[in-house]
Amino acid sequence: MIDKIKDHLQAVEQFDAQDPDAIEAFRIQYLGKKGILNDFFTAFKAVPSEDKKAYGQAVNLLKTKAQEKVDALKKQLEAKREEHGVYGDLTRPGQEIGIGSRHPISVVKDEIIRIFANIGFNVSEGPEIEDDWHNFTALNLPEYHPARDMQDTFFIQTDPEKILLRTHTSGVQVRYMENNTPPFRTISPGRVYRNEDISARSHCLFHQVEGLYVDKGVSFVDLKQTILYFVKQLFGKSKIRLRPSYFPFTEPSAEVDIYWGLETEADYRITKGTGWLEIMGCGMVDPNVLSNCKIDAEQYTGFAFGMGIERIAMLLYQIEDIRMFYENDIRFLRQFKSAF
Ligand code: DAH
Repeated sequence: MIDKIKDHLQAVEQFDAQDPDAIEAFRIQYLGKKGILNDFFTAFKAVPSEDKKAYGQAVNLLKTKAQEKVDALKKQLEAKREEHGVYGDLTRPGQEIGIGSRHPISVVKDEIIRIFANIGFNVSEGPEIEDDWHNFTALNLPEYHPARDMQDTFFIQTDPEKILLRTHTSGVQVRYMENNTPPFRTISPGRVYRNEDISARSHCLFHQVEGLYVDKGVSFVDLKQTILYFVKQLFGKSKIRLRPSYFPFTEPSAEVDIYWGLETEADYRITKGTGWLEIMGCGMVDPNVLSNCKIDAEQYTGFAFGMGIERIAMLLYQIEDIRMFYENDIRFLRQFKSAF
């Protein structure tokens, strides 16, 4: 019997295993309810009394050794798991983290802000849900004025007071003039809404940037120079022309064209063979608008301009369809990673 136990002691000492199933099988084989040790303990009764002491010591030693072996192997396993299991192989290459990119509308908007900030314009904003006064009436567009039809409006409420989704950012001019005393220079970027059919060229929702400069002695020359500076900065083009136009809130009014050139087939297409492209509306703030905003039109003059951000972005990046801006197609958005 004692020899048998000694054989087991040797087997226990030599046992080695890396995988948890083998260790568990070993534990059950020796220490389990129906295991080898249990058999030895059961056999204790039959051992002659003079051998009982040595037998008991040998069985106890085997039990201790078996338990120690199981513990040691489990510990080893645990250590390995910490090394590889929790964090995996620490020397492996890192996982790529997808870095987002800014939306082209934001990119162009920020660039416009930067260019005007360099010549002293601050940034102002107004609400997208606007009242009739700020969107129309104060801008020299009284009720029943035919020019109101120029912009198809989404009305939120018509009675008792007209509340609407602003059709342009020009209303921010009014808010700014009502709340500040000249001189000031401000640009107002924001989202605007028009009840228009959605197509490659127009959308019911788009973005504009409004500009306003009011001081003593501001003239049309200042307006033209400011726009020329802006066009040079943003497009790298140095030829512009101002065509007489009409806006109720400016007098005189003009539309600005930039000379795009006729070098490529695309140039022909987008300029319809003329080389010129319209980019914004502008003019000298109508004295009625200044008066509506409690600014003394005898003392002060000002200029204003307004442009569509989508249109500018489409020209800069040669985007042919305005709907691309709102569809969140990741293949489209990814292309602006390194823009500006
Ligand atoms: N509000 C005009 C529009 O939405 C754009 C505009 C034209 C703004 C002339 C101005 C301006 O400030 O002077 O079409």
